[in-house]
Amino acid sequence: ASAQRSEDVIQRYMEVVAGVPDEDCIICMDQLSNPSGYETPASDAGGHNILPDNVGKFIKCGHTLHMLCMLAMYNNGTKDGSLQCPSCKTIYGEKTGTQPKGKMEIYSIAQSLPGHPDCGTIQIIYSIPPGLQGPEHPNPGQPFSCRGFPRFCFIPDNDKGRKVLELLKMAWMRRLIFTVGTSSTTGEPDTVVWNGIHHKTEMMSNLSGHGFPDPNYLDNALSELASQGVTEACLKPP
Ligand code: APR
Repeated sequence: ASAQRSEDVIQRYMEVVAGVPDEDCIICMDQLSNPSGYETPASDAGGHNILPDNVGKFIKCGHTLHMLCMLAMYNNGTKDGSLQCPSCKTIYGEKTGTQPKGKMEIYSIAQSLPGHPDCGTIQIIYSIPPGLQGPEHPNPGQPFSCRGFPRFCFIPDNDKGRKVLELLKMAWMRRLIFTVGTSSTTGEPDTVVWNGIHHKTEMMSNLSGHGFPDPNYLDNALSELASQGVTEACLKPP
């Protein structure tokens, strides 16, 4: 999905509006009636060029902004063929992340979690070895470290928990569970860190605050997965 013109990705999910609304562009903060400060990129092959005064409207959420501002934002990211509306965060296409290579293993534990006495436990073990940062990372070519791996995580083995597990597998394949950055816990830069989808890393204790009981955990996980574009709809065959 990455070998495509950036302009085509923009034009797939935004349409040019005729009457420009009297609003500001959420990216550059200038009025939409003024042209974008970004220039039309030199066109390589085919397609229609996006012009500085083109105002685009997202096809689902309807938010409007300079198409060249959106193009610049896209080119600044991982260029995975997906767009995210900067106003409401609606995702177009399939968002992928920058998680380094590694392993996600799943085990079943008979013991129940605090707060979920009626079912056993699913254990996930994430292993990621240290390596070199790629072009999608903050410091390409530099090494990244991996602290606290393998990381052990726990989910109640009930219907909702198994649904969360399936969505986490999808998020793992899309490289969304971890990223390379600065750890907010340790301050260490260039290291593998969680990427906004909370996990429970303590099974029978709750010393870190990332343990059980937590009656909201599964619902929170579902909404954090959804904000990365991973929803039940992704699990259904097309
Ligand atoms: N368990 C689960 N999640 C955690 C933990 C933890 N012990 N500590 C922090 N988080 C959550 C934070 O709430 C935050 O939302 O991870 C997110 C990113 O925090 P960072 O400190 O940047 O992440 P990272 O350095 O990857 O993790 C900190 O998590 O699993 C442990 O061993 C790991 O001690 C490390 C800690």
